[in-house]
Amino acid sequence: MAKKIITPEETERQDNYMRRVLDRNSALKRRPTACIKTFGCQMNEHDSEKLAGMAERMGYEIVPDEAAGKYNGRFCDLVVLNTCCVRENAEEKIFGHIGALKGAKHEYPGLLTAVCGCMTEQKHIYDDINSKFRNVDIVFGTHDIYRFPEFVYKAVFTGKRVCVPPGSGDEIPEGLPIKRDSDFKAWVTVMYGCNNFCTYCVVPYVRGRERSRNKDDILREVESLALSGVREITLLGQNVNSYGRDINSGTDFAGLLGEICDRVQGSGLRRIRFMTSHPKDLSDRLIDVMASRPEICAQLHLPVQSGSTEVLRRMNRRYTKEQYISLVDKIRSRIPGIALSTDIITGFPGETEEDFAETLDLVKRVRYDAAFTFIYSPRVGTPAASYPDQVPPEVVHERFDRLLELQNGICRELNEACVGKTFSVLCEGVSRTCDTRLTGRTESNKVVNFTASPPYDVSDGSLAGRFADVYIENAQTWSLEGRAVNWRL
Ligand code: 5AD
Ligand code: SF4
Repeated sequence: MAKKIITPEETERQDNYMRRVLDRNSALKRRPTACIKTFGCQMNEHDSEKLAGMAERMGYEIVPDEAAGKYNGRFCDLVVLNTCCVRENAEEKIFGHIGALKGAKHEYPGLLTAVCGCMTEQKHIYDDINSKFRNVDIVFGTHDIYRFPEFVYKAVFTGKRVCVPPGSGDEIPEGLPIKRDSDFKAWVTVMYGCNNFCTYCVVPYVRGRERSRNKDDILREVESLALSGVREITLLGQNVNSYGRDINSGTDFAGLLGEICDRVQGSGLRRIRFMTSHPKDLSDRLIDVMASRPEICAQLHLPVQSGSTEVLRRMNRRYTKEQYISLVDKIRSRIPGIALSTDIITGFPGETEEDFAETLDLVKRVRYDAAFTFIYSPRVGTPAASYPDQVPPEVVHERFDRLLELQNGICRELNEACVGKTFSVLCEGVSRTCDTRLTGRTESNKVVNFTASPPYDVSDGSLAGRFADVYIENAQTWSLEGRAVNWRL
């Protein structure tokens, strides 16, 4: 399949727009501010880092997202809502934010509002925003993210709305400026889009077909991250296991991982994670690479969605409960102690009590370190939205609560088994909930809040990005508590 990478001419065009906005912003009495509010998954988080990178190059100061377009009591000059439409509650929340920004625009007409991301890739939502929310100045979808400078330029210089209808572009945006949220942890996209068409999921419609990045572009990015002192990377894709299939590069995901490990050897980049893996595509080669490379964390996100083979069939997941469980057994036998996490949907159309019992049974057998549980939400345009037998909300909620209770118990037991052991933790800085403790994550991605004793001091910002051996003293359901016994500076 042909793959388009944005041409050098297009890059230059966007660079020109960036420069023109920068000139205008530099001439202002104060530096204008931009706030980028992100909803949804890691892919969106990473897209927002690109939007922030471009906004910064246009002369905006990036400020944290505070309510209704304000930062430090003052209205921002640019507010970007990077939206998600995977579930209904995300959409409702975002419409609330757009509505709140209406009042802000009224008080400060200089405020520029942009709405982008997955939600605006849906025609009915795009039309709704256009007709009902005239306070929104710029609307564009995930495919046009690289044209952000052009849109800002047009909105700023013409004062007119810029609305780009949902598209189906297959460009891969290489070389965009990125303002990363962290100095020591980074996302690296390996592929965009999804071809799987699970019957409940809107992603293939809003993110398009699978497009793999060129291997050399990925390796260059990883190398430069390692050089700049990054300690951990997470490779991103809706289904990383199909990496390379669309570009005939001769490299599959396992091969790519191996080459990434080779490139970072001897550097400070010690941890490599990736997500998401579709169980039907997880190869033995991938398990081999994970088992043999110490840089690859012994942790895997392996969404199961349901434990009922019949529900899985109607979800178009293309594996059975038994196949999933034998895959887990195989992975565990090759990588003992690997931490597994998953996504589970309750209340898929037609889910019976027996189907749900299969899900509970699977969860008991696999004993996940973490499970992200969702209530099924019909998405416009997906096959499942028109399936008969939508499960009544009260039944779904009751099942959801039972699942959560089961999983919480498992999490707590697994965490309690960590007490008295020592783990290597990548310190992320002072804990948000307790300023006398540091916070970080283990290789298995468990959150650890911990103390440090002299000569190390919790308030010493330079501890962020360093590895500590942390002795675990206490377990909570969602986190561990301990003390640093050794720092690897
Ligand atoms: N309803 C509920 N959950 C969904 N997910 C995707 N689509 C839906 C939907 N329509 C969940 C899946 C997926 C995760 C990112 O979101 O579990 O793995
Ligand atoms: Fe959605 Fe399925 Fe693709 Fe995941 S694999 S993004 S759930 S269609």
